[in-house]
Amino acid sequence: MTTLTINSKRFQEDFETLARIGDTGDGGVHRPTFSEAHLAARAWFRERAEADGLQVQVDGAGNHSAILRCSPPGAPALLLGSHLDSVSHGGRFDGALGVLAALEVLRVIQEANLTLRFDLEAIDFTDEEGSLLGLLGSSAVAGIISQAELDNPRGGRQLLLDGLARAGLQEADLLNAKRDPAQMAGYLELHIEQGPRLEQDRAQIGIVSGIVGLASYLLTFSGRADHAGTTAMKDRRDAAQGACAFTLSARRLVMEKFPECVVNTGALQLLPGAFNIVPGIALLSLEFRAPEQDRLDELEQAILELARQEAESFDLQIHFEPKGKHLPTPMNPLMQEALRKSAKKLGLKSMEMASGAGHDAQALAGLCPVGMIFVPSVAGASHSPRELTRWRNCVNGANTLLQTVLVLGKVK
Ligand code: HGY
Ligand code: MN
Ligand code: MN
Repeated sequence: MTTLTINSKRFQEDFETLARIGDTGDGGVHRPTFSEAHLAARAWFRERAEADGLQVQVDGAGNHSAILRCSPPGAPALLLGSHLDSVSHGGRFDGALGVLAALEVLRVIQEANLTLRFDLEAIDFTDEEGSLLGLLGSSAVAGIISQAELDNPRGGRQLLLDGLARAGLQEADLLNAKRDPAQMAGYLELHIEQGPRLEQDRAQIGIVSGIVGLASYLLTFSGRADHAGTTAMKDRRDAAQGACAFTLSARRLVMEKFPECVVNTGALQLLPGAFNIVPGIALLSLEFRAPEQDRLDELEQAILELARQEAESFDLQIHFEPKGKHLPTPMNPLMQEALRKSAKKLGLKSMEMASGAGHDAQALAGLCPVGMIFVPSVAGASHSPRELTRWRNCVNGANTLLQTVLVLGKVK
């Protein structure tokens, strides 16, 4: 393997420039899918790639790719990338690091004028975070998006349609963005760990073994709106009570019976929503995750039954609306081996670990061999302006990505 390395200064300049797009002033970014800031970040990525002499393509799902032709005609492409969208008021490393590292790897290979077994593509996937649907762009490439999911996305149908319109995309094209597996040599993603393990174990590189499974629901607790002053407590059918009781009992259930899993109720809306009205409706977002399929199914049954019980105890009706499911996904063993070899060659301490966060690699695993590299998150913070990875670790991750491309590309 050659001893090529990335250009840290250039990589860092890109990172700092991108972090200013959608900057929230506290170290974080706010770039929900197809927001002005997200579209500006994509425009910057296109300009940067074109300035580097790379061809840029946008597919039917809005995925943005910088392409380096560096193999014999007709060869497949190895995709490297992540996502430029962020969660609401999130961190500046989540997704962005992987897209910029991919772009930097293409530049280094281009400058070295290397011939590989495959072309290289630095890709920014649409809506990884799910402000609209979740893993939208990568699922479109994998051909696993259904019309039913588009009809009932996590962020709501209208938000999806409005977003697509802002980005100049057609819903039908989402269903036609599937790639031919024969043209896909694989997918590699560098990402921050978003947890504390690498820091605790003093490891520099995480070799991801698998990605957690995840299911989302919108729960609607329905009671009766009443006067907040004249309705006796015992007579109330208060939707807030049922929803809040459920959030507490769901936490207890997972901690006691599913200790390897997690549950989150990230958004609660009470209607009509006034100081002096007993809320008749509570809309609660529910998401839970498990590393194994059977446990995800068990947890799903148990947690929905618990919601029914809590609703009943407050004399409420309950409605469950599924809002997406991604199965636990193992990473490709050959990709893991190539990543281990690269980290070793660079003298970096690596460790194998599972991912508690979802990633685009999860959607692509059925289409081509996928692999992921993690780098340490300070105090495990993520999905927050506190998100931070030391720059030397960002460089280590990008160099591991570069070396792995060379291992897989079998430089001549
Ligand atoms: O939610 C996740 O796990 C990822 O950050 N989209
Ligand atoms: Mn991410
Ligand atoms: Mn994220």
